[in-house]
Amino acid sequence: MAPLNLWGSTMDIKLDGIGHSYGDFDVLRDITLDIPNEQIVCIVGPSGCGKSTLLRFIGGLERPQSGRVLQLGEPPEGCLNAMTYIFQDFALLPWRSVSKNISLVLDDHGIRGAAAKAIIDDVLKRTKLTDFAKALPKQLSGGMKQRVAIARALAVSPAVLLMDEPLSALDSQTRELLMDDLVNLWARRPFTAVYVTHNLAEAVRLGHKVVVLSRRPGKIREIVKIDKPLAEREFGDSTLDAYQKHLWQLLRDEARAADEELVNA
Ligand SMILES: Nc1ncnc2c1ncn2[C@@H]1O[C@H](COP(=O)(O)OP(=O)(O)OP(=O)(O)O)[C@@H](O)[C@H]1O
Ligand SMILES: [Mg+2]
Repeated sequence: MAPLNLWGSTMDIKLDGIGHSYGDFDVLRDITLDIPNEQIVCIVGPSGCGKSTLLRFIGGLERPQSGRVLQLGEPPEGCLNAMTYIFQDFALLPWRSVSKNISLVLDDHGIRGAAAKAIIDDVLKRTKLTDFAKALPKQLSGGMKQRVAIARALAVSPAVLLMDEPLSALDSQTRELLMDDLVNLWARRPFTAVYVTHNLAEAVRLGHKVVVLSRRPGKIREIVKIDKPLAEREFGDSTLDAYQKHLWQLLRDEARAADEELVNA
């Protein structure tokens, strides 16, 4: 039997010199980055600079040609899937209710009955979905569907949540609500996440640090630490404006050059 870890487990992720090309097509170069336990690390960069590719490497779906993804420490107790994705299109099964979409991932790991119910009740409560347990996805708004996807991801007690533009399919009001939800969720029980976005307002609202990638091949241009406690950030927070402006200054030239490369290709 595994020893009981009374102190709880923590896991840090370290990216060590990651580089990759598809044939002659250079995508990422020398990405070295710490993703500390219980922090949200946002990644921004121009279209096609390799953000989703980097997330696939972190999640172990693909292996980079050079460099390593190191998992340091132990995943949390009860962890069923250390690296868990949340996608922009929610990926819910339309014919299963909210709770049955969640039970499916537990069933995959042999967790059923009372044990499954306890986990489902907990994640529905954390995402404020308890009253919608029996609803079908088609009865829910886009924002609610994404909350179900977040609840389902939390049900496997991941070490790290990997989010690839999770709010980009939603309208701007719903995005604001979901950002509030994510901040509250983190404040009540901190989690570790890598969060890819095109939206700089999301990055400064949610990230402990924001990693700015250059145009392809994506290299780290700068890592911007956001010096305000996550739980104290809110809509219209003017202290975040300066960070957002700085990020845009870094990104603008990269995005323009990337855009012109595509046009000229
Ligand atoms: N399996 C693959 N084979 C060949 N090329 C690929 C493959 N996967 C990604 N690419 C290319 O690598 C580059 C980076 O892709 P990626 O999807 O990681 O970029 P991204 O930063 O997530 O872009 P976006 O902002 O548009 O989501 C793109 O030019 C893409 O076409
Ligand atoms: Mg992408």
